[in-house]
Amino acid sequence: VLLDCSGVWRYRELILPAPEQYVISRPEGNTNLYPVGMENCPVGRAGHRHIGAYAGLETFFLKHEGENPSGSFKDRGMTVGVTMAHMLGAKAVACASTGNTSASLASYAAQAGMRGIVFLPGGNVAKGKLAQSLAYGAQTIQISGDFDDAMRLVEQVCNELGIYLLNSLNPFRVEGQKAIGFEILQQLDWQAPDWLVLPAGNLGNTSAIGKAFRQAYQLSLINQIPRIACIQAEGANPFYRSFMQNFARKESVQAQTVATAIKIGDPVSYSRARQVIEETEGVVEMVSDMEILAAKAVIDRAGIGCEPASAATLAGVRKLVDRGIIKHDERVVGILTGNLLKDTVTGLPEPESMVIEPTFDAVRK
Ligand code: F0G
Repeated sequence: VLLDCSGVWRYRELILPAPEQYVISRPEGNTNLYPVGMENCPVGRAGHRHIGAYAGLETFFLKHEGENPSGSFKDRGMTVGVTMAHMLGAKAVACASTGNTSASLASYAAQAGMRGIVFLPGGNVAKGKLAQSLAYGAQTIQISGDFDDAMRLVEQVCNELGIYLLNSLNPFRVEGQKAIGFEILQQLDWQAPDWLVLPAGNLGNTSAIGKAFRQAYQLSLINQIPRIACIQAEGANPFYRSFMQNFARKESVQAQTVATAIKIGDPVSYSRARQVIEETEGVVEMVSDMEILAAKAVIDRAGIGCEPASAATLAGVRKLVDRGIIKHDERVVGILTGNLLKDTVTGLPEPESMVIEPTFDAVRK
């Protein structure tokens, strides 16, 4: 029963046929796919239709992965990664993170009664995410370095100390994350969209969703493979740089962006993601921090809301439609990767500055 309630374990034959007693699940998935295009948005949801108008699309869906138990898409891979750690009898699990993987790891490790250890770039993790890993009781280690430093460090720590590594280098995490792709296809009655658009940092999600679509196609569940568009922040754009030179070589940069979740200069899953872009005739686009914050405001005002990195999806769709790469009548699904409440500061007004006197005059003013 539990397994079929989960938007990941429901697809276990295509992910990991784990014995039920080992499965660590909250359960995850079953997130909304909001119809927000100018044509496919239901009458009476004018707020949602603004998103489609902003994108310039008639048929547009947003898959809100921020509706997962810990507030991001990471739960889909984590349930499978922690289940595997459980099957192997691991006592401790670890990851490097920009905040969401660590929040998810902390939650699932706590559920399993394992020790969770997370390595974070000090001062560069949104407070909501930091609060989660602390509250769930993970050993929270902030380093004086960036995500790429944390990534190198956690690999060394795991090798030396025999701790189970749960970054997206871990193949079982990628297997679980494929479920985003399967669930989108199922919600669309297995009528594959023309495009799938998502924000890209370490490139694990791109790899996973690409693999899901490939498998669904090979099993004849769908009769076309969607083109995948990865959106990077302008200041954290190594994958975009590689794409612009036909993947002649892997690039790395010193990352800088307000979207801290995707502030990554040296992506770990480069090769797998490159293969996905090539196979699906995909594209890689970049957007500025201003474009990210403008798109976030549109999603927030529609009453849906998301964290800054997720808004790169809408900013990227708008740009690709503008450039004629995505046609305005194509069917497009965009992924919102994280919940609004993860980051209550970036791009939002300071609430204290808006306190008024408790008088009718002040209200009228
Ligand atoms: N969006 C959000 C909200 C994320 O947290 C991440 C990655 C991405 C997009 C990019 O996905 O790395 O698979 O290309 N967050 C990781 C973390 C790095 O540690 O939470 P990706």
